[in-house]
Amino acid sequence: MQKSILILGACGQIGTELTLALRKTHGNDHVIASDIREGSESLMESGPFEILDATDYDALEEVVAYYEIEAVYLMAAMLSATAEKFPERAWNLNMTSLFNVLNLGKEKKIQKIFWPSSIAVFGTNTPKTNTPQNTIMEPSTVYGISKLSGERWCSYYHHKFGVDVRSIRYPGLISWKTMPGGGTTDYAVEIYHKALSEKKYSCFLQPDTKLPMMFMDDAIRATLMIMDAEADTLKVRSSYNLAAMSFSPSQIAESIQKEIPDFTVTYEPDFRQTIADSWPSSIDDSEAHQDWGWKSEFDLERTTTEMLKHLTP
Ligand SMILES: NC(=O)c1ccc[n+]([C@@H]2O[C@H](COP(=O)([O-])OP(=O)(O)OC[C@H]3O[C@@H](n4cnc5c(N)ncnc54)[C@H](O)[C@@H]3O)[C@@H](O)[C@H]2O)c1
Repeated sequence: MQKSILILGACGQIGTELTLALRKTHGNDHVIASDIREGSESLMESGPFEILDATDYDALEEVVAYYEIEAVYLMAAMLSATAEKFPERAWNLNMTSLFNVLNLGKEKKIQKIFWPSSIAVFGTNTPKTNTPQNTIMEPSTVYGISKLSGERWCSYYHHKFGVDVRSIRYPGLISWKTMPGGGTTDYAVEIYHKALSEKKYSCFLQPDTKLPMMFMDDAIRATLMIMDAEADTLKVRSSYNLAAMSFSPSQIAESIQKEIPDFTVTYEPDFRQTIADSWPSSIDDSEAHQDWGWKSEFDLERTTTEMLKHLTP
């Protein structure tokens, strides 16, 4: 009998698209979406859904047993900008949910885990350009501290208990289906919506702040690829660097202006500028290329074309 997949935090920016992609390949009934709130119509209507708090181990264990879950994708988390406002809540959510899933793996109740890390694991002392897989990691945000700790626990559970946990350090993600959930790179989604609705946008980062970014289709493809890879090809069991493109707010504005010439952007940096300043501007993802064949497909131009095409009413 085919075993099932469980997604925790399925109604968020990544979870929504990941659920739909997994349902396409594994069949709707074998992909169980869950969250503490309901999600989009396409998510809710395309397959099973459970209200489930990822920090509640007993509830999680019950759902895993009921649906005969083989793999769990843990997408529930508090993101970088929101976590600075609620540090303890962020730490509790990000770490308790991860321990719950790792412990299900340790107890052999599930066979495979996906848990996303982030470029937020790096800090101001990290080399900013072409940031290597292994380097100085001194994150200065609550979110980054939780992700770096999470990476170390994933590696520990893999080596100590044989847990098959796989992870990617996502860059900032750009998508049109679901709005982002409180990160420092949210501007790169908002800007497309505002370009179409108001022809002007006030950006919370400075014009020259260059950050690593990725279009959602690439991020979903990378997630499916690493989960399909043979276990012994995955040498990195903390989290893989992953890259597609790097750009600044002024560069994304220019790419939109090629299609909407009267679009204007003003700059009013807020607390998120400090977070962005502590992150790399570009990432070396050669280990993901070597170990599991990763190659990005979307650059800024193609991303802008896709975003405007899908968001235009
Ligand atoms: N979006 C990005 O640019 C980005 C970049 C790097 C890493 N990530 C990581 O990817 C993962 C998913 O990010 P996202 O952008 O989809 O986040 P999001 O904020 O859009 O979605 C998170 C979802 O988790 C749910 N949730 C919150 N608390 C929960 C709980 N206790 N139990 C169950 N669900 C709960 C929320 O309702 C929400 O639907 C996170 O771990 C995030 O850190 C995201």
